[in-house]
Amino acid sequence: MNVLLLGGGGREHAMAWRLSESLLCEKLFVAPGNAGTSHYATNLDVNPNDFPAVKDAVITHNVRLVVCGPEEPLVRGVKDFFKNDPTLKDIRFIGPDAEAAQLEGSKAYAKEFMAEFDIPTAGYRRFNNDSLEDGLAYLHTCATPIVLKADGLAAGKGVVILNDCGEAKDELKAMLDGKFGDAGSEVVVEDFLEGIEFSVFVMTDGVNYRVLPVAKDYKRIGVGDTGPNTGGMGSVSHPPFVDADMMAKVEQRVIKPTLEGIQKRNLDYKGFIFIGLISVENEPYVIEYNCRMGDPETQSVMARLSSDFMQLCLETADEKLGSAVVEIDERQVATIVLVSGGYPGPYEKGKVILGIDDVESSMVFHAGTKVNENGEVVTNGGRVLAVTSYGETFEEALALSYENARKITFVGSNYRGDIGFDL
Ligand code: AMP
Ligand code: GLY
Repeated sequence: MNVLLLGGGGREHAMAWRLSESLLCEKLFVAPGNAGTSHYATNLDVNPNDFPAVKDAVITHNVRLVVCGPEEPLVRGVKDFFKNDPTLKDIRFIGPDAEAAQLEGSKAYAKEFMAEFDIPTAGYRRFNNDSLEDGLAYLHTCATPIVLKADGLAAGKGVVILNDCGEAKDELKAMLDGKFGDAGSEVVVEDFLEGIEFSVFVMTDGVNYRVLPVAKDYKRIGVGDTGPNTGGMGSVSHPPFVDADMMAKVEQRVIKPTLEGIQKRNLDYKGFIFIGLISVENEPYVIEYNCRMGDPETQSVMARLSSDFMQLCLETADEKLGSAVVEIDERQVATIVLVSGGYPGPYEKGKVILGIDDVESSMVFHAGTKVNENGEVVTNGGRVLAVTSYGETFEEALALSYENARKITFVGSNYRGDIGFDL
């Protein structure tokens, strides 16, 4: 069967690796892919948000399974586009429809969903321009820190945490005034939760589910979790504090009620649920839902997934996850992300990357890379590469990833030297 994977980051490189290993996968296409995915697949110059172009690619290449990596096409309705098109409606598609993708696409939708199905999460209120005065008065009563979230997708920048009530009021006004465009036309004000975060990944066919390896990512740019948020600077799987007791709580209090909610609301959800959790005094609370896998968690998760990933995708699409087997590699895995100088602020592209071939005993997943006119691999984005390694312990896996990350050079390259510091 021919497969089309939508996306072009490190997450998609890791998925392309696993899909291409499957005997069920005949030809693999990635749109648009990157310099790394081209080792396993044919890259197509197609933007995943351009649905008619995706349709052309599916028809031209006789694709029978589509896996959507990023959230934006899902929130914009790529699954609905497939469902409503007579030539595409029978193509298996991994990813929820637009309504179900609101679990990620709208913070207010996700909070109401959690309230309705009794899923533990931070207390909240929501405000828009009509209720601005109420919002300002409410902020006055809040303990600091105060968490403000633009309702819609804001490229990972829509969450602001402030220690001062006056600053929170200014931020609320700025968000409602269009700081994040339409994404901020509604704002969720949330109680601050203090604890340690982790990421749980679930595949669901809408009824049955399977839990993939658990990971922890490091979102801030700076050592010690300081500075602005990024897409993610590193990940480890399995974070040791997420023990069997914690996972049992997550399954009972979060995963099962989430699936129940999906069914009660009749949501079309065949795909990944990424549950961002925080452990507060050993009790799990949901920070956010995403309707896709995480990046750079996927690099670590795919490394630990020993079962056939393509088969799991087919079982998801065909509502057969109930009989699926997920085998997990017992080894620990750690991923270090190399980024362009200046990221997550402005950065330059086109820097020649050296040393990838010197890497031994680690995998290198590409994100923002491309091959230039001289055939050289050059930087083409903020997050450039991820170095992923196995170890008997996560310390061993980290040491190997760092040893190999040091061999890769490009002008301005940067990575966090303390991934795993809090474990
Ligand atoms: P989100 O996009 O909702 O995942 O938020 C981005 C980051 O902000 C999270 O990974 C947390 O580190 C932080 N955050 C979000 N909500 C809260 C909260 N209620 N309490 C503490 N930190 C939060
Ligand atoms: N690493 C967090 C995310 O993918 O949203």
